Amino acid sequence: MTDGSEKPLLEMIGISKSFGGVQALRDVDFSLYAGEIHGLVGENGAGKSTMMKIIAGVHHGYEGTMKIDGREVHFRSARDALDVGIGMVHQELSIVADLTVAENVFLGTQPVTAIGTVDWARMVRESREHLSRLGIDVDPRTRIGDLPIGLQQLIEIARVLSSGARIIILDEPTSALSPPEVERLFAMLRKLKSDGKAIVFISHFLDDILSISDKVTIFRNGRKVLTARVAEIDKRGVIENMIGAGHRELEESYTGEIKLDTRFDAPVVLETRDLSFERAFRGVSLKVRAGEVLGIYGFMGCGQVELARALFGKVRADGTVALEGKPLRLTRTSIAREEGIAYVPESRRAMLFHHEPLYKNMSISILDRISRLLLKPSVERTIADGHIKDLRIRTPGPNQLLGNLSGGNQQKVALAKWLTHAPKVLILSEPTRGMDVGAKEDVVRIVRGLRDKGIAVVVVSTEPETVLSLADRILVMKRGEIVREFAGDTVSKDRLLEAA
Ligand SMILES: Nc1ncnc2c1ncn2[C@@H]1O[C@H](COP(=O)(O)OP(=O)(O)O)[C@@H](O)[C@H]1O
Ligand SMILES: [Mg+2]
Repeated sequence: MTDGSEKPLLEMIGISKSFGGVQALRDVDFSLYAGEIHGLVGENGAGKSTMMKIIAGVHHGYEGTMKIDGREVHFRSARDALDVGIGMVHQELSIVADLTVAENVFLGTQPVTAIGTVDWARMVRESREHLSRLGIDVDPRTRIGDLPIGLQQLIEIARVLSSGARIIILDEPTSALSPPEVERLFAMLRKLKSDGKAIVFISHFLDDILSISDKVTIFRNGRKVLTARVAEIDKRGVIENMIGAGHRELEESYTGEIKLDTRFDAPVVLETRDLSFERAFRGVSLKVRAGEVLGIYGFMGCGQVELARALFGKVRADGTVALEGKPLRLTRTSIAREEGIAYVPESRRAMLFHHEPLYKNMSISILDRISRLLLKPSVERTIADGHIKDLRIRTPGPNQLLGNLSGGNQQKVALAKWLTHAPKVLILSEPTRGMDVGAKEDVVRIVRGLRDKGIAVVVVSTEPETVLSLADRILVMKRGEIVREFAGDTVSKDRLLEAA
């Protein structure tokens, strides 16, 4: 630990960076000392990854000064950063699925023999050593793509940890890890710290940040808000600084209490008991009632996406699912559809026909491709005209090809068809991601309309705003389990974040 008299290993002074019109960082100062674990937190888009990518040599066009050991440096590539001992595990996995574990561990730095060929024996031996130090027992000759995602993530981390770097940056490394794997990683980080390495640890899991870090730095909206010793701040304080509680900003409305309009007495439409799927989620028991929007909130990788897919039969989970009290065997999506369960995934591309006109996309669902032949185009267009007006879809008319619409308007089209073919259960994954405020409000209105028809709606999202604006009741998922329910009372963004 530092006592304040030491010089920082890394010093960033007045860093600004923009991408086109987006100002990702504004005048940020940041210092890192040898022998410390420095937690970095902030909401999505706050600028954390951008700052770390500058340090790791990925972004070079920026304003401000970067110093290592007190000397100014200018990296032109990630290689330059690696050469002075800066290694980063990126948020997006960068493993090569078709290579072996050993090849991935040594990616770009393969050892060679005296005659210049790749030294396979050494590669296998050393990667096994590196991995076993992280408690990973896997044959280095396995194709990495065949391993579970959590293990792939650990192996990628092992690569950076064993690279000899003295500054190690981990950008949300634990999203796909199970609790014992997180513990193993933390043990490794503590050891590296005692060896005098400097570690930056980015995570949404604030409990993890506060337990492993010596200091925490909070970013909000491209600015550094605060650096504090973890002994001097608690979870509540971190959240308040992250979302700007007490500040007059846009987010203000979400620090206020939101009334949940929970319908405790409506009939249960869908019920699961003890639902589990591989490593993704376990022991999920939930009920969705007629005419309610159930929000399921959790960080990326907490299992909520897989849960949504399981409810639609896209993946086969263990446990029981019942629809209107009748047990369902959701072995195929066609069974879910026939029973009246509809699903709009986060990638709408999969659901819609981009080369077909709007009216066709609205009047049918994929399973109805056949019966659509029975519908007169003039009838279809009339239905579509009504939707375009009601849903405020911005388009010249129903003959427009869907692919020419903006993402927000495509989403409205994806929702529109459920107005004419009301399902019993409608599952929406990230229904407002990437939309402007106006389109978001329209989607909220449409979803409420569907709910008011008596449909049981499930909204799955990693964005607190999405569930807060849509849900009548909220479940919070954390590492594959439901850890909290907000029902019948009020909820606020800070309390939602605190629960996750
Ligand atoms: N390569 C890029 N091109 C354009 N915009 C980007 C790029 N990388 C990040 N941004 C934008 O910069 C802002 C900060 O993003 P990021 O650093 O990824 O945030 P965080 O890691 O805190 O979630 C966001 O508005 C994001 O959309
Ligand atoms: Mg990021």
